[in-house]
Amino acid sequence: MSSSDDVSKSAEKVWGENMSSDEEVAAASRPYFIGKKENIIQARRVLKSVGGRDVLVMYHQGDFYAIDARCYHSGGPLQEGDIEDFDGRPCIVCPWHKYKITLDEGEGLYQAVDPSVKPLKPTWCSKGIKQRIHTVTESNGDVFLTLNNSPGAIDSDYYQTEKYRDTILKEGRKKTN
Ligand code: FES
Repeated sequence: MSSSDDVSKSAEKVWGENMSSDEEVAAASRPYFIGKKENIIQARRVLKSVGGRDVLVMYHQGDFYAIDARCYHSGGPLQEGDIEDFDGRPCIVCPWHKYKITLDEGEGLYQAVDPSVKPLKPTWCSKGIKQRIHTVTESNGDVFLTLNNSPGAIDSDYYQTEKYRDTILKEGRKKTN
């Protein structure tokens, strides 16, 4: 079994089975044990379901990041995306249509050219925060995730809804099987 499997199993054991939905929501606003730091560093990426939300936890160049697992554009699986720097910022590149999302803020980045500035040169611009990011903390070698429950819709929220998970996602799986 891989270390990511170990981490995943330990977290799934802790979460949920005898909880009411109210308890899940309350628990999701607290730091939630994800796994041992060394295991997550080794795995680099861990996919977790916390409080009904699928979150991708990543370790990249000395830092931990946590971000909604499905891309804000059309639900692409970010756990399969590459991490690259754009404009000096680490971003995950969605494997479906190559949208770039900053790991620290969840901003969507794009390149634009100002035709009034010569010579023409593309520059990186932000669409604003599109992907909900979450907080990762460490304590004594353990890593915890706290969901970002801030009010106000963020585009990636749609792909975390019950409707999306229970109908659209399952339909898509059926079509590909
Ligand atoms: S689904 Fe991610 S870029 Fe389209």
